[in-house]
Amino acid sequence: MQELRILIEAEQYVKSILEDDSSGHDWWHIHRVRSLARKIAANEGANIFICELTALLHDLADEKLIGDEEKGLNSIHDWLERNEVNENDIQHILSIIRTMSFKGGNNVAVETLEAKVVQDADRLDALGAIGIGRTFAYAGAKGQLMYDPSIPVRDEMTKEEYRKGESTAINHFYEKLLKLKDLMNTDYGRVLAEERHQYLEEFLQRFLDEWNG
Ligand code: ADP
Ligand code: NI
Repeated sequence: MQELRILIEAEQYVKSILEDDSSGHDWWHIHRVRSLARKIAANEGANIFICELTALLHDLADEKLIGDEEKGLNSIHDWLERNEVNENDIQHILSIIRTMSFKGGNNVAVETLEAKVVQDADRLDALGAIGIGRTFAYAGAKGQLMYDPSIPVRDEMTKEEYRKGESTAINHFYEKLLKLKDLMNTDYGRVLAEERHQYLEEFLQRFLDEWNG
């Protein structure tokens, strides 16, 4: 019962912070990642409470959202303490969020089963129809074109290049989305990613076919 109460409180807490966000970290992203995390956790035998709670809090230390990762982590720590989550669980949850939001964190291997589950859930939400939608929404918010055939497709870009608008929504597929399926941590996550990846490939094919008449 205590766990259910904490999850409900966490939901309210996250909603209050993300309410007005336009950086792609809206509440519904959190909601989807939480559901995916629950599903993968059940299949992989991970601790469902830790996975759900971490999924709910996972974007609250994101630089894009908070500006300062350490400040974000401190606030999460205080919140968990106030809500009487035990110290072991607090440290576990914070270590998962730290790895996930660390700049270049996608290259740092996560360790615990729960970390693997939540990272997989977050990555799955960048794939499939939802992932396509988020990518175009993000590119639009940043003033990028959806596609520009005069920009050669690149699979590595610097922050500076992004700032100058030298990327496009379609380029983001090559830079990140198509790579995610091979980065999945769990067997069940991989199965889900495979399907969503296939859908990305089909979408890209159609998009480029239509573009080229
Ligand atoms: P998260 O890791 O929590 O899913 P990100 O901050 O990495 O969130 O990205 C939010 C969404 O915006 C994701 O769907 C991602 O694929 C998309 N996105 C991130 N960077 C770009 C970009 N440069 N161009 C287009 N879409 C992007
Ligand atoms: Ni996320």
